[in-house]
Amino acid sequence: MELFNVYPLYNVTPVKAEGVYVWDKNNIKYLDLYGGHGVISIGHTHPKYVKSLSEQLSKIGFYSNSIQNPLQQELAQKLGKVSGCENYNLFLCNSGAEANENALKLASFITGTSRIVSFNNAFHGRTSAAVATTDNKNINAPINLQQEVTFLPLNNIELVIHELGKNDVAAVIIEGIQGVGGLDEGTTEFFQEVQAICNKKNVPLILDEIQSGYGRSGQFFAFQHHHIQPDIITIAKGMANGFPIGGVLISDIYEAKLGMLGTTFGGNHLACAAAISVLEIIEEENLIVNVNEVYNYFLEEIKAIPQVKKVKGKGLMLGVEFDFEVGELRKKLIFDKHIFTGGSNNKKLLRILPPLTISTVQISEFINDLKNLLDE
Ligand SMILES: Cc1ncc(COP(=O)(O)O)c(C=O)c1O
Repeated sequence: MELFNVYPLYNVTPVKAEGVYVWDKNNIKYLDLYGGHGVISIGHTHPKYVKSLSEQLSKIGFYSNSIQNPLQQELAQKLGKVSGCENYNLFLCNSGAEANENALKLASFITGTSRIVSFNNAFHGRTSAAVATTDNKNINAPINLQQEVTFLPLNNIELVIHELGKNDVAAVIIEGIQGVGGLDEGTTEFFQEVQAICNKKNVPLILDEIQSGYGRSGQFFAFQHHHIQPDIITIAKGMANGFPIGGVLISDIYEAKLGMLGTTFGGNHLACAAAISVLEIIEEENLIVNVNEVYNYFLEEIKAIPQVKKVKGKGLMLGVEFDFEVGELRKKLIFDKHIFTGGSNNKKLLRILPPLTISTVQISEFINDLKNLLDE
C-alpha cells in the first residue's frame, strides 16, 4: 500500500530531536524555528516530559471515558491556574479541528441557531464545521458548504454588529493571532467591541487559541493582551508538545448535559500525563518570561536587516515579511543553513514558531544566517 499523497514534502527525514534541534537520518543537525507547525512548546524530548509519558505508559495508557480518570481533573485544575482562566470547564478531545468542531457545536446547542461569523483568511481546521469557518475554498468539499458561514474583514466592527443584528448567529469564531493566514490580528479595540456585542446579543465568542495559546504570544492566551474574557476557548498544538490532544474551555455560565459532547480517545491517560507535564515545565522554567525576552531581542535584531519590510505577530508567533516570495529562501534556510521555518497564505512571509525554550543565542545564529543568505 502507498500513502494517500496529500502533503507537499521537503526531502528531510528527522530521526532524533532534542531541545530546539532536530537531526536527520544523515546526522545533519537543524535549528527548529517551526516546532512542527507550532506544536513543540517545551522543546523536543524534554527529559521530564519523556519520564512522565514513559511512567504513565507503563501504568495505564488508555481506558474509555466511561470510567473515572483523575488525571483529567488534575489537568483541568492546573490549566485553570496556569492560564488564569479558572471560571471555565474543560472538554478534552484529540486535535485542533476537533476542539473547534465541538466549540461550534456547543455554541449551536446553546443558541439554537446555526450561522457562524468568521473572518477573512481564518484557519480553524479541516473537520465539517471547522473547515467551513476556514476561509479557503480549496479545502472545502461540497459537503462542507452546507454550513452557513459569513466571513468578515478583521477590524470592521460595524459589519460584526450588522451580522449579529440579524439574530441568527450561533457563534463568532476568531483566532487570537491568525496563523496559517499570515499573522494578522484584531486590534485591542476590535476584540473588546466584538466581546461587547457578543455579550449583548448572547452569542458565544469562540477564541481559537490553538496556535496562539500556551504562552506562544507572550501571554498564556493571545486574547489576554486585549483584556477580554471569551465564552469559549479552543486549544491544541502546544498543549502536549506533540502528543495528540485538544481542548475546549467553556465558560461556567454554560451548563453541561450528559452525552452532549463525547469522544473515544479524548483525555486519555497518556494525553493527560503529557499535557500536565507541559504545564509544569511552562511554570517551572518560566517559559512565558523567556518568550518575551527572546521576542524583544528578535525584534531589535531583525529590524536591522534592510530587506525585512515588516514583522507581524507577538512573542514567538512571528511573521517576517519581505517584498518577494519566500519559497526559495525557506529552501536555502533548510538545505544550506539547516534551519526550519514556516510559510503561510501570505507567500512573502516567513513564519517563525520555535519551541518556547529557544535562547537569544540561537536566534542570533538564525539572524546571521538569514543576513548572509539575503546578501548572497
Ligand atoms: C488556529 C488554528 N486552528 C485550528 C487548527 C487545526 O488544528 P489541527 O491540525 O490539530 O486539527 C490549526 C492548525 O494549524 C490552527 O492553526
